[in-house]
Amino acid sequence: MSSSTVYVETYGCQMNVSDSELILGKLADAGYSQVDSPDGADVILVNTCAIRDHAEQRVLGRLGELKRHMKPGAVVGVAGCMAQRLGPRLFDRAKHVSLVIGPDGYRALPDLIERARDGERATAVDFDLEEHYQGFSARRFEGVKAWIPVQRGCDYRCTYCIVPTTRGPERSRPLLDAVREVEQVAEQGITEVVLLGQTVNSYNDGSHDFADLLRAVGRVDGIRRVRFTSPHPNDFSERVIAAMAETPEVCEHVHLPMQSGSSRVLKRMLRRYTREQYFECADRLRAAIPGLGLTTDIIVGFPGESDEDFAETLSAVREIGFNDAYTFKFSAREGTAATRFPSADDVPDNVASERLARLIATMRAGARRANMAALGQRHEVLVEKEARRGGLLQARTRDFKTVIIPGEPSLIGSYVTVELTGTTGSTFTGTVTSERVELPLAG
Ligand code: 5AD
Ligand code: SF4
Repeated sequence: MSSSTVYVETYGCQMNVSDSELILGKLADAGYSQVDSPDGADVILVNTCAIRDHAEQRVLGRLGELKRHMKPGAVVGVAGCMAQRLGPRLFDRAKHVSLVIGPDGYRALPDLIERARDGERATAVDFDLEEHYQGFSARRFEGVKAWIPVQRGCDYRCTYCIVPTTRGPERSRPLLDAVREVEQVAEQGITEVVLLGQTVNSYNDGSHDFADLLRAVGRVDGIRRVRFTSPHPNDFSERVIAAMAETPEVCEHVHLPMQSGSSRVLKRMLRRYTREQYFECADRLRAAIPGLGLTTDIIVGFPGESDEDFAETLSAVREIGFNDAYTFKFSAREGTAATRFPSADDVPDNVASERLARLIATMRAGARRANMAALGQRHEVLVEKEARRGGLLQARTRDFKTVIIPGEPSLIGSYVTVELTGTTGSTFTGTVTSERVELPLAG
């Protein structure tokens, strides 16, 4: 057993956060202890994202900085999507890196680290279609909720997206295995789980679909809230929507990536739905689940996006009334189909920036209106952590509103009822009307 130390830094999505938890679990089992600073660590791992060029540039900058924190003989490794995308090319970009390991390679991590320590430049970038990291015990970063990966990879081929290249084909983890992990976290006192997958509602382990999974996870003793991210609009079958509606633990919130409000752009993105079909999906979800919060992802400046196309995105945002959105400027990713559109289709950067600013303003105005209308409502919240401003706590409603409330840190992890008393436009302030809802919920 080693008594070495490891420092892990994570970029990108929740799947990466979850992967870092698995990495740390694996290394803890191999005798490593986790440290909070790269200074003096024996192993420094950066778990990376490749979704936009900006994400990669940040990592390259950070790798440069980390050089200054390396002690002699330390191993610096790059994990995750950028490692998968660039493979050994990363060694040329950052000479002090001696380990490159893609999202399916973490089982071999202790051995690879040993090899890197022996002076080798170690790489693991093969996909493993059986890999669900069974037998790993995740080291969780968050105290009150747990990320549960249930599906890895993606079988869609959205033309802008690098994920199918970096995370490989879609595969679903066996239901029993996922449920067992939920039971374990529930035994540790965690009451909220977030099921993770690239198109999580297409989950199918050969015998069970996502509807079965939602119902099974909802039944686990002690679990009070079930969330999932991110679904694809085309995979909301009637069975899945019924399971959401009929499972009391499944929260009234869906993050439903729209990407564009123009059918013409959606077609070029190969999203496989039209504007109308997306609206229909949102309507079906709202009809089945009263009080549903809807958030989304939107890309502006996709090749060929005209002023009219963009106007359709703005009108979709207004008409649907999202509670929040992650908004992005299109970033061309090497190897994706979107790079093969004629260069005449490129949207100039200043146009894309201007569209992004207008989209954000439209989004904020809509959210502010909806949030003002919610003042006075009472909600059950889970107290998640201390707020950035001193002496306050950050809590979350079932429909994914952030509420800042007064209270002692000892309330973290418990459920209280709050009244929404103010809003900054995006988040709320609230007062506690009843403390410590009894746990667990019946059922
Ligand atoms: N450029 C910009 N945004 C992208 N996304 C994915 N690929 C790209 C890209 N090449 C966005 C999508 C996706 C979110 C996770 O990132 O909106 O839903
Ligand atoms: Fe990328 Fe599309 Fe798969 Fe989402 S569904 S990971 S956007 S290819």
